Amino acid sequence: MGEYLYLTLFAVLFVYTESLAEDKIINHETTLGRLQGIVKTLNEENIYQFRRVPYAKPPVDELRYRLPIAAGPWQYKLDATQFGPSCMQYLLQNDAWLLPNQNVSEDCLFLNIYVPRELNKSNRKAAMIWIHGGGFTAGQGMLCDASYLALEGDVIVVTINYRLGLFGFLSTMDDFAPGNFGLWDQHLAMIWVKENIADYGGDPSNITIFGESAGGYSVGMHIISRMSRGLFQRAISESGTTLSPRALVTNALHVARRLGQILNCTNSSVHTDSKSLISCLRAKSAKDILERTSDALRHEPGVLSLINRVGPVMDGRFFEDFPENIIKNKTSMGRLVFDSVDLMAGTNNAEGGLFYFSLLGFQKQYQFNLSEGIPTKILCSLIANAFARDFYQNNSAVQSAICHRYTVNDISTANSLEEQGRQALSAYADMFFVAPTQETLVKHACGSKGKTFQYLFSKQPIYPWIQERPRWLIGANHAGELPFIFGLEAMYKPSVPRTEDEVKLSKKMMKYWTNFAKRGDPNGPLLPSWNEFGNDKRYYLNLSIDSRIMIDLWPDRMKLWLEDIPDILRQGQGIM
Ligand SMILES: *[C@@H]1O[C@H](CO)[C@@H](O)[C@H](O)[C@H]1NC(C)=O
Ligand SMILES: *[C@@H]1O[C@H](CO)[C@@H](O)[C@H](O)[C@H]1NC(C)=O
Ligand SMILES: *[C@@H]1O[C@H](CO)[C@@H](O)[C@H](O)[C@H]1NC(C)=O
Ligand SMILES: *[C@@H]1O[C@H](CO)[C@@H](O)[C@H](O)[C@H]1NC(C)=O
Ligand SMILES: *[C@@H]1O[C@H](CO)[C@@H](O)[C@H](O)[C@H]1NC(C)=O
Ligand SMILES: *[C@@H]1O[C@H](CO)[C@@H](O)[C@H](O)[C@H]1NC(C)=O
Ligand SMILES: *[C@@H]1O[C@H](CO)[C@@H](O)[C@H](O)[C@H]1NC(C)=O
Ligand SMILES: *[C@@H]1O[C@H](CO)[C@@H](O)[C@H](O)[C@H]1NC(C)=O
Ligand SMILES: *[C@@H]1O[C@H](CO)[C@@H](O)[C@H](O)[C@H]1NC(C)=O
Repeated sequence: MGEYLYLTLFAVLFVYTESLAEDKIINHETTLGRLQGIVKTLNEENIYQFRRVPYAKPPVDELRYRLPIAAGPWQYKLDATQFGPSCMQYLLQNDAWLLPNQNVSEDCLFLNIYVPRELNKSNRKAAMIWIHGGGFTAGQGMLCDASYLALEGDVIVVTINYRLGLFGFLSTMDDFAPGNFGLWDQHLAMIWVKENIADYGGDPSNITIFGESAGGYSVGMHIISRMSRGLFQRAISESGTTLSPRALVTNALHVARRLGQILNCTNSSVHTDSKSLISCLRAKSAKDILERTSDALRHEPGVLSLINRVGPVMDGRFFEDFPENIIKNKTSMGRLVFDSVDLMAGTNNAEGGLFYFSLLGFQKQYQFNLSEGIPTKILCSLIANAFARDFYQNNSAVQSAICHRYTVNDISTANSLEEQGRQALSAYADMFFVAPTQETLVKHACGSKGKTFQYLFSKQPIYPWIQERPRWLIGANHAGELPFIFGLEAMYKPSVPRTEDEVKLSKKMMKYWTNFAKRGDPNGPLLPSWNEFGNDKRYYLNLSIDSRIMIDLWPDRMKLWLEDIPDILRQGQGIM
């Protein structure tokens, strides 16, 4: 998940105009209406693109803070040749070169369809729906050009926009603004694909959802939502899971009221009721809400806190119960969905690079220098303390267990500060990504009808999505796998060199991903075999230049989060 810090970065946008010279216009008849898309030729093959297809009514005015409503058919020929705007957000500088449409708008509920080779309604190609990441506050569907993935795997790929930030996830925790609008948008987009993909040659009974970061968290949520029954057959969750301690936001009402105060929608002395608060917020301009979002989400200054302030909430609708309870309950409706899907999930081996951005602002106050590494006392007093305080009831035994597990004992070596830095970032990665992913896989492998696969992505990309990182961090940072899934051609700047090794790895990963989408099994000809994750043998494929199947990812580290800490909490040790 992106950190909120990004919210405050206003982008200096590059001017990027897409050349439409060699794109041909294509007309297409569908049940919902006629539309005009484009056909591009890439590596001598055709890829059909339909962009900015509306799947929901514009969520503006009275429809702001409401569940989305299906857009339904259109009357005139739809222009699906240009990408639509992004949902309300501050655009990130490092994405800008990929963005042909640099507008943001509240009217943003569009999807893009990529059809490989031929547009023929008689085809029954498997379809994949991409849910982008960006911490539930940023990102857009079109940022990952799905043309190469669609061609490589001969699958249809659909990329979607969903409402973000305090447009998609504001909640008063009651019926006036139940929250999770962004998740409902994704859900409606899935219904759209199920109902309409046959018009583009897709198979409505052969659908895979996949996503990364907040998109991976979203995937984790759809596979345990009772609402998802029958909407898709398979799911790929990249660096995200619903069992993360911060998957759900617990202080949403507080944030909604704070936004209300900032925008003069509450009285200073008494809290306005949710009804007046929401009707007042509906009357504000989208620009005002966006501009005041970072104020509404602001953390207490000088306190390291990883608590999410905007994101999905436990609403009793999308989620019938808290995720861990749904998964625990073999007869819950969400668990039935979970058991029915094939699941592939994984993380990157230096996911914790994301945490670097949270720590940057604390160097002066705590007297350390991130460029050089992280001292053990910062791990134990600042980091482990914050984790225990925010997510484990301030339990001191949990704090010391985290401190001990990630302390580098051999302080004699010259680069121990750097090694301690890597360990401290791993603590973050394990807590928020790796261990909850592992737990999800363990639960899924236990008795569900669907197959289960785990990967670890270990190749440090030449051109990473997140560019800023400490020199001592080794491996694949958060989002590092994206160019390999969508293709280096899609996501590396043209000036960046493409090595044969990376191209080969990317092609393999595209094959694994799309094989899985077609058959629920990533294996296929010319690919190193990828064993199913089982509870007797927890296989994972270590994806790198030399991809290798291995067993039991970081067992000691996983034991801390999945056994030791739950034991401490059960036994009630360390309560202050
Ligand atoms: C961006 O928004 C402006 C103002 O609404 C509009 O005139 C323009 O066409 C939009 N650009 C794109 C690429 O959609
Ligand atoms: C579409 O596919 C069907 C079945 O494979 C085939 O008979 C037909 O000729 C195709 N149509 C076009 C326009 O390619
Ligand atoms: C899904 O589609 C692929 C081809 O794209 C096909 O081989 C496979 O049998 C289909 N699976 C199901 C369950 O229909
Ligand atoms: C809120 O009201 C105060 C006092 O009337 C005014 O100064 C301020 O500009 C208002 N803020 C917004 C965001 O409308
Ligand atoms: C503030 O309180 C007064 C008196 O109770 C009420 O009339 C007014 O509508 C309230 N304003 C808002 C924005 O709720
Ligand atoms: C499990 O789910 C079922 C079906 O929703 C429900 O009736 C039951 O109360 C749940 N059990 C627990 C322990 O929550
Ligand atoms: C932090 O360390 C780097 C590399 O050793 C050094 O260049 C920089 O000046 C240091 N910063 C501070 C504030 O000490
Ligand atoms: C957490 O525990 C410490 C003592 O170890 C105490 O000083 C602090 O107030 C507690 N914080 C919270 C939020 O409970
Ligand atoms: C994954 O593979 C890389 C590259 O071969 C290797 O350096 C690393 O140790 C492996 N990691 C794990 C956890 O298996």
